[in-house]
Amino acid sequence: MKRRYVAALDQGTTSSRCIVFDHDGRMIAIAQREHRQYYPRPGWVEHDAVEIWTTVQRVIRQAVADAGIAASDIAALGVTNQRETMVVWDRATGVPVHRAIVWQDTRTAGLLAELDHTDAAEQIRARAGLPLVTYFSGAKLRWLLDSDADLADRAARGELLFGTMDTWITWNLTGGTAGGRHVTDVTNASRTMLMNLETLDWDDALLEIFRVPRSMLPEIRSTVGVVGTTVDPVADIPIGALIGDQQASLFGQGAFDAGEAKCTFGTGGFLLLNTGTEITHSRHGLITTVAHRIDGEPAVYALEGSMAMTGGLVQWCRDSLRLIKTPSEIETLAAQVPDNGGCYVVPAFSGLFAPHWDAGAQGLIIGLTSFVTRSHIARAVLEATAWQTYDVVDAMNGDAGLRASRLVVDGGMTADNLLMQMVADVLDIPVVRPMMAETVALGAAYAAGLAVGYWPDRAALRRHWHVAAEWLPGMDAQRRDRELASWRRAVELAIAWGRPAAGR
Ligand SMILES: Nc1ncnc2c1ncn2[C@@H]1O[C@H](COP(=O)(O)OP(=O)(O)OP(=O)(O)O)[C@@H](O)[C@H]1O
Ligand SMILES: [Mg+2]
Repeated sequence: MKRRYVAALDQGTTSSRCIVFDHDGRMIAIAQREHRQYYPRPGWVEHDAVEIWTTVQRVIRQAVADAGIAASDIAALGVTNQRETMVVWDRATGVPVHRAIVWQDTRTAGLLAELDHTDAAEQIRARAGLPLVTYFSGAKLRWLLDSDADLADRAARGELLFGTMDTWITWNLTGGTAGGRHVTDVTNASRTMLMNLETLDWDDALLEIFRVPRSMLPEIRSTVGVVGTTVDPVADIPIGALIGDQQASLFGQGAFDAGEAKCTFGTGGFLLLNTGTEITHSRHGLITTVAHRIDGEPAVYALEGSMAMTGGLVQWCRDSLRLIKTPSEIETLAAQVPDNGGCYVVPAFSGLFAPHWDAGAQGLIIGLTSFVTRSHIARAVLEATAWQTYDVVDAMNGDAGLRASRLVVDGGMTADNLLMQMVADVLDIPVVRPMMAETVALGAAYAAGLAVGYWPDRAALRRHWHVAAEWLPGMDAQRRDRELASWRRAVELAIAWGRPAAGR
């Protein structure tokens, strides 16, 4: 019998989901579970890779059961993941040698500051398309090997394997110590600082900068193309695609061609513009990344504006400040006041990403007077996402040499009407959201389905895209300019606060 469904596994920063889709791209079942966040020191963020794998096994089993189908009904599985988060494990036992170091973690700032005095920064920008910042995984791997001489020896002897989450999950899905495939794809590899954007292979000069043994690195495969077959927790499903989450949502939005863009608002916010088969280097603080590669075709590239903290700030308001009990309460609270009352929040928890790339910047809440209430702070929290989006859209416009005419969005935060209206207001362009908000999983499913011929081509997939909501700009220009000026000053202060000063 023909297999009727496609599944996607979305291994995210805060949770893992498995979603089963039908041929029309409709969701048949979804299972989701959170995993623990570890913050052992200021600036450090870790995950337990074994907990993540256990969570992944559970959500896959549950989604298949909830869909009321057999694994043999699934034509392909697509794996998408939080990017840059890395883990090293023992090849023989399958046991991780440390907690996974998460993309938000800034422990490598010192290591990178030393490299900055060499020509490493220029090499990395030219070869990998990335700035020398804590976000990417190569320096995290170097830090780990430097932290323990025994680990460095074992790595040199070929006993250890490195992987981002796609690699860790796929190795386990395909059998782990019993023949698991040690692979990654071009989108994930393009975030390591170790891959050359042109050759799409590990780059010897970059491996030398980070002193990484090639033997511990996975094989780099195309995004769309079968990399193996599942063994655990359900057997015999072809793994048709590996794709970083933000590239997956670009794919899930049907943005297959040059000039098409999307912005996802989840834990972080990520604007990606498809630039086609050309490698475009940004002059305005964006990074160059691989959008996807279909087996046998040239790679498609993208420019990306990454914001480290968007929904994560809302989560922090819930978990650490206890300002709200659920994320959606931030909107209710913010809607009680007409403006921010002079209060601004700059969420530089992991430094500032695009377009500033300042690892030292630290978060701030500023403009406090007795007038300011929790509602004003809630408003400033949402505005922080809107203004960060403004900054990356502005950079994108600068690089593209033209002004975007609308912004296509997705992700958990797009449930927030007030926020989406703010984004439309500050950008002064319409904001549009499609019916299917789970574009990360959908993109992975599309990519996996294409790999096995479940869908004939990309044109067929575009027909699934329908508008669900649109927000039109309505802010007067003077107010926008005033608010922008205040936001910029607040950002300057967050950067200045992180600079070494006498007595600090
Ligand atoms: N109504 C809301 N208003 C503001 N923020 C919200 C709202 N609902 C959810 N969020 C935020 O959106 C984020 C969840 O979105 P989503 O599920 O897309 O995250 P994600 O990025 O996929 O997560 P992960 O990083 O684990 O992959 C959370 O950070 C949450 O705080
Ligand atoms: Mg996600």
